[in-house]
Amino acid sequence: MSENSNPSHIAIIMDGNGRWAKKQGLPRLSGHKAGMESLKKIVRYCGDNNIENLTVYAFSTENWKRSEEEVSGIFKILVIYLDREIKELHRRGVRLRILGDYSIIPAPAREAVENAIELTKDNKGLSFNIALNYGGRDDILRAAKSIAEDVKEGKLDASDLSEELISSRLYTGDIPDPELIIRTSGELRLSNFLLWQSAYSEFYFTDELWPDFTEDSLKAAINEYKTRKRNFGGR
Ligand code: IPE
Ligand code: IPE
Ligand code: MG
Repeated sequence: MSENSNPSHIAIIMDGNGRWAKKQGLPRLSGHKAGMESLKKIVRYCGDNNIENLTVYAFSTENWKRSEEEVSGIFKILVIYLDREIKELHRRGVRLRILGDYSIIPAPAREAVENAIELTKDNKGLSFNIALNYGGRDDILRAAKSIAEDVKEGKLDASDLSEELISSRLYTGDIPDPELIIRTSGELRLSNFLLWQSAYSEFYFTDELWPDFTEDSLKAAINEYKTRKRNFGGR
């Protein structure tokens, strides 16, 4: 028997591209390219199946530690993905948003992202959120700074602070917290993803590497989620 209905917000830590490439004897960037193909399928699937929000972790605030070649390759692949996909996603009513400070990513990627946001901003279908240069701690820190500024300027009183106010200042803004967080590749950690928003998320871990993750893998995750008993501290 199902405990829960479909999640309205699914978040995915798309991990394992490098190991997928290594297994095939290919360079790491081939793994990221293969990961882009998985992403394409999963976004279309969510758009077609009444999922309201999909958030994917594409690049963390810590991923800058990787080689210059890998970092610039990842952003080039993002540009290719948006060039190939955004018109189709727009046709399907998908709205693209970015979580994270994308002002500092390479210019071609920044422009592709800005154009995609502008093109799809009035769409009412799937809200597709790409976490790019995203860190959960950075997200909370920025919210805290913006609130502190407002208090300093007298726009807010310290007594106005609430969980709702903090939530509204995060990159996710009015997007509800994810009911389900999926991580591929067998790693059992959050790696600084959606720290505040995941307080009561259900976690689903799979050993599948992201390039091997399919629509059926997502269906399996959703089905497992539906059987989970969620307590929220109650009973
Ligand atoms: C996830 O795959 C994609 C990004 C972090 C950009 P990885 O590149 O982390 O793949 P593994 O973990 O090395 O296999
Ligand atoms: C998390 O994966 C970030 C993304 C999937 C974009 P990482 O591969 O960077 O995480 P760690 O370093 O293994 O924790
Ligand atoms: Mg990884």
